[in-house]
Amino acid sequence: MEICRSIPKIRAYVASLRAEGKTVGLVPTMGALHAGHIALVKAVARHADNVIATIFVNPTQFGDAADLAKYPRTEDADLALLKAAGVAAVFMPQVDDIYPEGAETIVETTVLANMLHGLVRPGHYRGVATVVTKLFNIVGPDVAAFGEKDYQQLQVIRKMVRDLHIPIKILPVPTIREADGLAMSSRNTRLTPADRAAAVILSQALDVTEKAVQSGTTVSDLAKSIRATIATQLRGTLEGLDIVDDETLAPISGPITDPTAIMISVQFGDILLIDQRVATPR
Ligand code: PAF
Repeated sequence: MEICRSIPKIRAYVASLRAEGKTVGLVPTMGALHAGHIALVKAVARHADNVIATIFVNPTQFGDAADLAKYPRTEDADLALLKAAGVAAVFMPQVDDIYPEGAETIVETTVLANMLHGLVRPGHYRGVATVVTKLFNIVGPDVAAFGEKDYQQLQVIRKMVRDLHIPIKILPVPTIREADGLAMSSRNTRLTPADRAAAVILSQALDVTEKAVQSGTTVSDLAKSIRATIATQLRGTLEGLDIVDDETLAPISGPITDPTAIMISVQFGDILLIDQRVATPR
């Protein structure tokens, strides 16, 4: 596995693959890898000859410096996982490579980035769109994979690619879960044991919603049932509950008749966990 710590090095590596007529897939990550990231690698490997992963803790998507400083950095373990998963190369730039002195250009999906979870974390999705555009421009892949767990991020990337005519196929990858149903996340390792046990409530609440939507329900009944399920445990506080159109993320009301994204965020101590489902009425 090639380790490329500079832009010229990854560009030269991709050029060598292109010279052999190979296709290239990209898995952007911020490290602290787990089985969810490996699922992204496997998804890309089904669509491209070679998979390139990136590890870059992107400062512009963190609201405050303390959260950025606390982000886990596990480089050796990450590289071992990527190598075992068959990744061809890993691009690990420095902050100055991605944001050179004087950089002022940003990329923003102006509506999608500033609704729902984007209101709780102002600037977050602008940081994501900007860094992903840069990674796309540096690597120039044919396909790239993003997890469905951060459903708003996935929709932001899809919209950005469409609006900016970026010739890259975006693969959505279903969320990988722990045995009890908790969506895998680098943040899970920072939960206290009691909060970790209680965190299963997110997926339990979403399991209930999926069945309710399939058999017919309204937005307000669904919201009531999710709130009631989350309230059965006392450790986590429901911070966000959005029941929205699965493409535009616009709020919906009344009976649910079309595919609907249900996104929840629950705060445990200083850790905010998110999870989602897209539910389709029968
Ligand atoms: O989902 C993530 O890990 C990050 O938001 C991403 C897409 C790698 C951009 O920094």
